[in-house]
Amino acid sequence: MKAEAPLRVLYAASEAHPLVKTGGLADVAGALPRALRNLGHDLRLVLPAYPAALERAGALRTAAAFQVDGRPLRLLEGRLPGTRVHLYLVDCPALFRRPGHPYLDAGGRPWPDNAERFCVFARAVAELACDRLGRRWRPQVVHCNDWQTGLVPALLALEPVPPAVVFTVHNLAYQGLFPHATFTALGLPDAWWSYQALEFHGRLSFIKGGLVFAHRVNTVSPTYAREIMTPAAGCGLDGLLRHRAHRVSGILNGIDTGVWNPARDPHLAARFHARRLAPRADNRRALRRRLGLDPDDEAVLAVHVGRLVEQKGADIILDALPRLLALGMQVAVLGSGERALEDALRAAARTRPGRVAVHLGYDEGLAHLMEGGADLFLMPSRFEPCGLNQLYSLRYGAVPVVHRVGGLADTVTDAGPAALAAGEATGFVFDAPEPGALAAAVERAVALKRDPRAWTRLQRAGMRQDHSWRRRAGEYLALYRRALADAGPAR
Ligand code: ADP
Ligand code: GLC
Repeated sequence: MKAEAPLRVLYAASEAHPLVKTGGLADVAGALPRALRNLGHDLRLVLPAYPAALERAGALRTAAAFQVDGRPLRLLEGRLPGTRVHLYLVDCPALFRRPGHPYLDAGGRPWPDNAERFCVFARAVAELACDRLGRRWRPQVVHCNDWQTGLVPALLALEPVPPAVVFTVHNLAYQGLFPHATFTALGLPDAWWSYQALEFHGRLSFIKGGLVFAHRVNTVSPTYAREIMTPAAGCGLDGLLRHRAHRVSGILNGIDTGVWNPARDPHLAARFHARRLAPRADNRRALRRRLGLDPDDEAVLAVHVGRLVEQKGADIILDALPRLLALGMQVAVLGSGERALEDALRAAARTRPGRVAVHLGYDEGLAHLMEGGADLFLMPSRFEPCGLNQLYSLRYGAVPVVHRVGGLADTVTDAGPAALAAGEATGFVFDAPEPGALAAAVERAVALKRDPRAWTRLQRAGMRQDHSWRRRAGEYLALYRRALADAGPAR
């Protein structure tokens, strides 16, 4: 095969923007296939047919009707909205047509049949990948993402001539672990009940299907790829990852520069770009009004957007609040997640009205306005495979203040004297996920902000970086070609 020949790739995920989103995976699954399609490759995206996906996908037609584990399924076909990416939805009403969150019930607990849901999905993807659904299309590469698609590489490994398989880890902490009884109930091959396959300390591990059976495993930043090979960040899988180290790599996420473009963003009160930053002040005012913060133009405004879970460290922001507020600044948080964190944030906002604002829930428009109006974007994540918000922040001139970990370490350059002098600094980086370290970094930021020229220079250095998917897509193509070489000829 010539190096430039277009590739046929099936991209399997459990969420994709704009059809269904719980986090960054959806941003990636919505944007990377499009970038590859725009480079001329035959990229096809396959997702479960959740109600939201069916609603937002536009025109769909039934491409196949088939059975998996005795359940009737349909394969629906259409386009990912706003793109030329071919879309397949696996329609199994009993498993996927339910309201609300794709993985959690109304009480915030995982759906009790998640193992079956994503096993059936995986079997359907494998059928599609092996061209057994009458599509007359056979991908050379199947690209799977996170535990929900973990059984796909395992199933494909049973095929006589499997496609090349790439598995991307977006977050190793979510593994898809289930009791042995589930393994039996799913009717998976006995041979998979082994530590060398899907068994993990007496339980069934979906993610191991990807880690063990894919030709290539990657994660979403080079630093996280290294971290997960250590006991500290390996979530018990570091040994396996070290064993496969020659097949493991890291590729930074990109961002959708169409959706996240401050010069054209419909969610902003005022649009701006690197050479014209003044309108950011209008966004900051709009943001203060919207969140009920004091109209204090002097106050530095720091924000945080994210899932309210241990990983993201919103509790660290809470614990740092006294020191941050002592600087005369304002702090705003947008997020949803764990009940205790939500309650603690709400209480903090009540105690310091006008200075601390908390918006609980999911609000895409507000997230954009926060990026477009904030002075600082706080990300004290305890671990962060890549992180997208700091990339949005860089593009929007909201200077990121981040813990030196995972993708945050790879994307933000600390404003130390040398980097500042060289014009390379883009934010503030601290070394421990602790309130004191966060507060010290914010203090450095507030001090630098008193020098408007230095501050603008910092903002512009971030805004001028290219984190587009167009650039990162090339790295995925190289990975696909390595996987093809591993899988052997004839694909
Ligand atoms: P993760 O995938 O771990 O949640 P990322 O930084 O990769 O973290 O991606 C998070 C994505 O979800 C971003 O697009 C972010 O803007 C968005 N997001 C998270 N929480 C909210 C929220 N409450 N409202 C709006 N957008 C949110
Ligand atoms: C995960 C990670 C996040 C990453 C995203 C997309 O949810 O927590 O760091 O950016 O996936 O890859």
